[in-house]
Amino acid sequence: MKTKKYDVLNTETGRLDPTIYSDEEIYKEEMEKIFGRAWLLIGHESLIEKPGDFFHTYMGEQPVILSRDKTGAINAMLNICRHRGARVVRTDDGSCKSFVCPYHAWTYGLDGKLEWVPGEEELYDGTIDRAEMGLKKARVATYAGLIFATWDHDAPSLEDYLGDARWYLDLEFNRSAKGTKAFGPHKWVIPINWKTAVDNCSDWYHVPYSHASAANALTRIMGAPRMTSDVLWKKKGRAAFVNGHQVCFFRLPDDSFDGNPYGMDSTEENHAEAIERLGELRGDGVMLGTHSLFPNTVLGFRIVIPRGPNETEFWHFSHTNAADTPEKQREVALEHAAQNGAGGHFESDDIDNWNQVSQSGKYAGAREIGQYINMGIGNTTTDDVFPGQLSDRFVSEQNHRFFYSRWQEFMNADSWDDIPLDPMKANFEGTASMDG
Ligand code: FES
Ligand SMILES: [Fe+2]
Repeated sequence: MKTKKYDVLNTETGRLDPTIYSDEEIYKEEMEKIFGRAWLLIGHESLIEKPGDFFHTYMGEQPVILSRDKTGAINAMLNICRHRGARVVRTDDGSCKSFVCPYHAWTYGLDGKLEWVPGEEELYDGTIDRAEMGLKKARVATYAGLIFATWDHDAPSLEDYLGDARWYLDLEFNRSAKGTKAFGPHKWVIPINWKTAVDNCSDWYHVPYSHASAANALTRIMGAPRMTSDVLWKKKGRAAFVNGHQVCFFRLPDDSFDGNPYGMDSTEENHAEAIERLGELRGDGVMLGTHSLFPNTVLGFRIVIPRGPNETEFWHFSHTNAADTPEKQREVALEHAAQNGAGGHFESDDIDNWNQVSQSGKYAGAREIGQYINMGIGNTTTDDVFPGQLSDRFVSEQNHRFFYSRWQEFMNADSWDDIPLDPMKANFEGTASMDG
């Protein structure tokens, strides 16, 4: 079948067709062309620390078992029994020796191999080819403890997929040899199209207005810096764009929102380690801000899981530095949850906006007038120090345009052969690597 060609974004005017938020056929195609091909964040190594541990997750809509097998290897397997399609695992997480389907007890190993079938000789006359009937497996790769998987065996390596975005992600996820630890997730279902939560990750334009009361409360009660328009419009942070990913960053100490003497680290010792692992510039001079990874990772370790054109399951994890004390980790996790958890001050403001934007695609009038994501058009730059395409200022809609351009590249491609990757140019100073 010939691949349908989309033309939903005019990169010269910033006009976006809102049909992409509400159309059933487009949604079905996204599941195949985007969620069937991309590397998807599905978990964290700290969720499955020991052999036998498993965690139930999703790749797009599809249920997936993430397990650590007896050899210590990580497996991502479709949670659909090879017999009649029942879900083999029906709980969120746990630890076990094997996976037994509750329907007829076909039994799979921690690595997905079919190990036992009731009545294999007596009822099937020995005709089951067990080697061929294991759980369907995805390709798995990790970056600094974060676990990604893809269904597409022709996809590029995870390292190439993240590209130079990793230069910035290291600022948060790769500071310590001990790595990060995940808490959560909080889970909730909201009536939005999944894309609206992702493009919003660098939408600082809405912050002084949509989040006025939450930001005021943080300033008045906790002494946090003001987030009003006169502050944000002048803010010096910028955003970098690589392969549809977006990373906002600040130079330290001047641009940061907070005045922690060790930047992103809680102790002098942690800070010294970060400099050794990331080099002087990244360890001491740059801080990661809001970010998103194409297609569905939002602001740190949070995932939007599509459930239909206007329904999304939101997973909020807090990730903390594993080198920190349990008290410090708890403090960070609670702070994340208070701001962006299920009842977080900021999150509840956002959800209704995303719902409104998503719903607009249903109306003929809205499709006729389109939406406009044209702020900062033509102002993308490059730099010798900071990799990727760069915004020239803090508040812009460049991320929205890069995200929907990437969406279109995936949707218009017949295979990974048609999906371009930005060349890697970053200088990864220090000892940190993909493996942590
Ligand atoms: S559906 Fe799983 S054993 Fe029959
Ligand atoms: Fe927001």
